[in-house]
Amino acid sequence: MCWPPCECPLEGLELRRIQGPVRWLEEVDSTNRLARAWALEGAPEGALVVARRQTAGRGRRGRAWHSPEGGLWLSVVLRPPALEGLSLAMGLAVARTCRELGVEAEIRWPNDVWAGGRKLAGVLAEGHSTGGADDFAIAGLGINANLHSSHFPPELEGTATSLARERGQEVDLRDLLRRTVQQVDGVYARFTAGGFAPLVPELAALCPMLGRPVEVESSGDRWVGVASRIAPDGALELEDGRRLHQVERLRVL
Ligand code: BTN
Repeated sequence: MCWPPCECPLEGLELRRIQGPVRWLEEVDSTNRLARAWALEGAPEGALVVARRQTAGRGRRGRAWHSPEGGLWLSVVLRPPALEGLSLAMGLAVARTCRELGVEAEIRWPNDVWAGGRKLAGVLAEGHSTGGADDFAIAGLGINANLHSSHFPPELEGTATSLARERGQEVDLRDLLRRTVQQVDGVYARFTAGGFAPLVPELAALCPMLGRPVEVESSGDRWVGVASRIAPDGALELEDGRRLHQVERLRVL
């Protein structure tokens, strides 16, 4: 795809809420950072920031997100009625996109997308609330699209994967962007209409960790339990009755 694209990549899509405008960057520190600044200046819901590469991509829990050219690095301005479950909903949209492209993507609670036992994509949803009508959220989506082993730093080599690696063939980034926006639009429309709870059955079906033992690290504690279900508020429930909202680390055993 030429950059910025010669024709609008959203052309011809039937979109309800995620319709742009789109800001294209050759390089940016973080699309989430820029989208937030844009939202504070009044960017409408559905505004998109897409970068060819990020120099300081942000992951969850303050981690860095490795974002060289070849991936899809995208942030969306959203103005949802409530934030609960939003990042899980966005994880569902990303997993659906990857599955459309023939990759058996699964969701690892809370919102990692994995394939072949490695991390394929991630979601960073950040809310901004002053309690007023200007509240918004930024959903940052990072999909390792055409990344190969040489793109990953040594510490990610055994744990990260990409669409190209899983399919044995590169993806067209423009097509991936169109599919992603279409899926985000569809899932977000369901989310704004009915909240997170109606999405749970579909999400749970893509979550093979349910029913399996997991090792959890949270607030300095570490324990093992069996993941039993995702609750309507997005919490992960364990068979021993624990309810998890945030964890530092979660490993499926
Ligand atoms: C994670 O799994 O830790 C979340 C990773 C989210 C990465 C994306 S890439 C586009 C957007 N901009 C950022 O700085 N982060 C998100």
